Amino acid sequence: MELLIKNARIVDHAQDFIGDIYIKDGIINEVGRDISEKGCRVFDALGIVVMPAFTDLHVHFREPGFTYKEDIESGSRAAARGGYTTVNLMANTNPPCSSMDIVNQVMERVGSVGLVDAFQCVSITSGMQGDEISHLDLITEPVKCLSDDGKGVASSGLMLKAMQKCKEKGLVIMSHAEDASISKDDYRLAENLMTWRDLQLCRESGAHLHMCHVSTKEAIDYITQAKLEGLNVTCEVAPHHIYATDSLDYKVNPPFRKMSDIEAIIAAIKLGIVDAIATDHAPHTSEDKRQGAPGISGIETSFPLCYTSLVKKGHIDLCKLSDIMSRRPAEILGINKGRIGVGCEADLVIVDIEDCYEIDPQKFASKGKNTPFAGDKVYGKVLITFKSGRIVYDYKDE
Ligand code: DOR
Ligand code: ZN
Repeated sequence: MELLIKNARIVDHAQDFIGDIYIKDGIINEVGRDISEKGCRVFDALGIVVMPAFTDLHVHFREPGFTYKEDIESGSRAAARGGYTTVNLMANTNPPCSSMDIVNQVMERVGSVGLVDAFQCVSITSGMQGDEISHLDLITEPVKCLSDDGKGVASSGLMLKAMQKCKEKGLVIMSHAEDASISKDDYRLAENLMTWRDLQLCRESGAHLHMCHVSTKEAIDYITQAKLEGLNVTCEVAPHHIYATDSLDYKVNPPFRKMSDIEAIIAAIKLGIVDAIATDHAPHTSEDKRQGAPGISGIETSFPLCYTSLVKKGHIDLCKLSDIMSRRPAEILGINKGRIGVGCEADLVIVDIEDCYEIDPQKFASKGKNTPFAGDKVYGKVLITFKSGRIVYDYKDE
């Protein structure tokens, strides 16, 4: 399979120029200003932006057990529609993913759907019960990350042991920083306390700690200090926490924050403290939302929310956005994606950054239509997503 993309505005973390991309056997074979015809299919991209497809470190596809909210097929279609070709799946399924059996089942399903690549997290504590971690001894490749996302690990001693295990096995430990004994009354304190605690445990263990959906000024300040100190910590920020404040009444964990938090997070993005944008794509049915389920179906609105609130407003350029949506998250997972360079996988996304359009959840491929952003006018529309040079989403098919 060969494809020649001509006359595109090629943007990744380090380049922004008009040129061509030649793809052969799913790999980027040549990138240049004027690549000669190869006798293969030519895609004329005159006037449109081509970027590396996005990688999402934090996604809930709900399989097994909650497939009425989302399943691997609908989730994969939603990811492709959002411009993503790699996702890191959370373990708060039913049963929670605490064994290689479930990992293998999920990986097989993802492969048979074939639209995106996926990694499956294993829970930090067995069954996400918060009381033991003996299952971690049985965890092998292809697992890269552990996470009890949806809950914080209450026991500091257990979290330290889990981090020591991660250090030994070369795994990334992802922290949903929420002290549940406080979050009902004060979610800010709950996030700040647990962020601070996990950074101390990171220093103690030397494990790679990844802080999920950082949302407060204090938490990002602690992480900045930790990074300056040289701790092995990375962090992600969710698009909705950058785009909207707590003036919006919508349940999500962590909650929407204040303008001063958003400003601190944007400053941290500019300084290179934020490693990744991660959606925390959390699909729910409308009935579950009525019953108080937290979360936003966010993978299909990630690029427009980030483009509109970060690039369009002039905080960062498109190269920087590509860095935190593609290059760095791919690097954290250790995959050969996220750049437009010879030898990289040809996972690309074509976006329209000129047109202003309205978010319409009824068009989501996700089963979860839960978003507080319906009707919002945004910039940055995903038109086509390529995985290994093959089209996995095309807006014209809608
Ligand atoms: O809002 C959220 N929803 N935050 C989480 O941490 C979990 C997620 C979910 O699984 O629905
Ligand atoms: Zn979480």
